[in-house]
Amino acid sequence: RLLFIFATVILALAGCSGDPRLNVLTPKGTAGEIQLDLIKWSLILMVVVFAIVLAIYVYVLIRFRKRKGIDRMPKQVHGSTFLEILWTVVPIICLVVLAFPTVRYTFDLADKPKGDALEVKVTGYQYWWEFEYPQLGIKTAQELVIPTGRKVHFEIKGKDVLHSFWVPALGGKTDVVPGRVNYMWLDAKKPGLYQGKCAELCGAGHALMDFKVYAKNPSDFNQWVTAMKQPATKTVTKDLAEGEKLFRQNCMGCHAGVNPSIKGPELTHFGLRDTIAGTLPKNEANLKKWLKDPSAIKPGTKMPKIDYLNDQEMNALTQYLMTRKPESTKK
Ligand code: CUA
Repeated sequence: RLLFIFATVILALAGCSGDPRLNVLTPKGTAGEIQLDLIKWSLILMVVVFAIVLAIYVYVLIRFRKRKGIDRMPKQVHGSTFLEILWTVVPIICLVVLAFPTVRYTFDLADKPKGDALEVKVTGYQYWWEFEYPQLGIKTAQELVIPTGRKVHFEIKGKDVLHSFWVPALGGKTDVVPGRVNYMWLDAKKPGLYQGKCAELCGAGHALMDFKVYAKNPSDFNQWVTAMKQPATKTVTKDLAEGEKLFRQNCMGCHAGVNPSIKGPELTHFGLRDTIAGTLPKNEANLKKWLKDPSAIKPGTKMPKIDYLNDQEMNALTQYLMTRKPESTKK
């Protein structure tokens, strides 16, 4: 009975996967569709094998059941060359049938796509993601922006421990292995927000090592690129100038790559982003909460507490960060 209840609960949970941005069964891109085909293909094969085995099992149960009046032992058989060959060859055929598309698509999805793919270098850190666009000369963190209808080729690296780069609705996942470079490509057919996850247990902050994927139509994407290349808004007010000074003193050491061993996420045009640390909705209250005690929000984060500023300094710093965006997008 317990098993039945347990199985029902599991089935119910599996049924309500909720967020469509996390659903691999309704892919929103070519790579995801290919992977769904592989899932279906292996599932069909498994169902066929299961049905045949079950049919033989039921047949044997009925055909050779104990009958009234028959009390002797059935004929005892020791070894059957025919059966030995059969149950060796049939699984081999099944595995080969499964292996061909799997191997083919595994290589296809790692190869550089033909045509003008957008190159993105992904680096996984405990517990955040860096995205660099070498063709465009821009770099960002936690929020990956891609154009729709164009393949994006990822060069995936890791700096500390194992992570795994996964955008369930678009495809993936590819391991992030320190000291090694892995490749994969994805595309999004329609504009939208897709959720990205780290899919390899990597420490205390693993569950919150999320990122966002914004697929924009090509003209919106180009607008974003243009904005990203522009310098940040000039700090005109006294408060913002104070904030900029505090930013230089307290944040830039890690966040501007001065010391690569304690590298923090790129904050260029942070004001354009929707989230703080990839998890909190971006607003001043949350930003203060994050700055004052980051590990209360993301356990294990290397970001130190900035709890030594007074209220006025904290206001100046958060205001400066919130408005750190390109001149053209200033309201
Ligand atoms: Cu990174 Cu889990």
